[in-house]
Amino acid sequence: MLPHEGKTLLWLAVLVSLGLTEGQITTDYIRVQTPMPWTEAREFCQKHYVDLAVLSTEEQYFTVRTATASSKASFWLGLQRQSLGSSWKWVSGEELGYKQWYNNNYEGRCASLEAMLKKDQKLLPRLCNEPHMALCQGPVSPQSVTVSSVGAHRLNLSWNVSSFMQMTPHGYNLTVCTNTCETLLYSYPGGSALMNIDVSNLTSCTEYSVAIAAFVVRPDSRTGEEIILQDEPTTLQVKTGGCHDWKKLLCFLLKLLKLASLAPPLWVLYHIFKKVADDCLEPDHEISAVLTTEE
Ligand SMILES: *[C@@H]1O[C@H](CO)[C@@H](O)[C@H](O)[C@H]1NC(C)=O
Ligand SMILES: *[C@@H]1O[C@H](CO)[C@@H](O)[C@H](O)[C@H]1NC(C)=O
Ligand SMILES: *[C@@H]1O[C@H](CO)[C@@H](O)[C@H](O)[C@H]1NC(C)=O
Ligand SMILES: *[C@@H]1O[C@H](CO)[C@@H](O)[C@H](O)[C@H]1NC(C)=O
Repeated sequence: MLPHEGKTLLWLAVLVSLGLTEGQITTDYIRVQTPMPWTEAREFCQKHYVDLAVLSTEEQYFTVRTATASSKASFWLGLQRQSLGSSWKWVSGEELGYKQWYNNNYEGRCASLEAMLKKDQKLLPRLCNEPHMALCQGPVSPQSVTVSSVGAHRLNLSWNVSSFMQMTPHGYNLTVCTNTCETLLYSYPGGSALMNIDVSNLTSCTEYSVAIAAFVVRPDSRTGEEIILQDEPTTLQVKTGGCHDWKKLLCFLLKLLKLASLAPPLWVLYHIFKKVADDCLEPDHEISAVLTTEE
């Protein structure tokens, strides 16, 4: 099964179990159609997903705006201010870094996305106790993964953990593939902005494809049954070290010499090479079979 399929199935399970009241609008956000005050909406999102939606970048705002364009609703976002005079902050602690206000002159301290508005700017301050639908935040896989070091049998990987994922107990599902795949699970230890893991027991000089997906385990909002919510994986290709290119070349020459008619000067050279790289003749059954018939 491809990592993608696993993800789709997981989300499909979520969508089916939620019936028509909730739905995934993009890979990272879920729409909750039961109107609730802001605090209750946040509790609901934290219980069943990760938090209320955090749209740290303007790109994320555009993505959600497009995904909700056909909707006629107001959706709570994880955006509020402590008092009327203070700055707007996401529930992750980050300040709002762009201006997409439809109107910022209202008194409310909680922000909604007004999907039905024709204008492109759809953020609106509202009174926190008004009941509205909500956008929840799902788990988010690493934005980019850095290969800190590569050995012959191990890999050291690291990635930045987004601020709201730092506040959420979560895990990472690592799928490491060559001809076959292996799945490794790591839990985020908490308290660190950088996740660092060491993958060992790899084969030297081998190309691996690695997929890393963040997941959380949550009670299903309808059945209460624990389910895994996993984001799309981030993938990378790595090659382990220990290739010994000089030895490969020597092995090639050795086989060539053995196949040649073994004229005396070459015969001497063959025995010198054989001392250094004897092991490369042994596993190659095909070539030794050819030699047997010739002798
Ligand atoms: C890890 O990811 C793979 C591929 O997406 C999936 O098949 C598997 O169920 C996941 N495991 C867990 C524990 O999330
Ligand atoms: C992996 O690399 C980081 C530096 O990028 C280092 O701090 C860490 O100790 C390494 N981990 C292991 C297990 O080698
Ligand atoms: C983490 O973020 C910092 C600052 O944005 C950046 O310099 C660093 O390269 C990132 N590290 C990884 C592993 O992506
Ligand atoms: C590496 O593989 C060996 C044999 O399969 C196993 O006994 C050992 O526990 C593995 N080590 C790690 C760190 O996974």
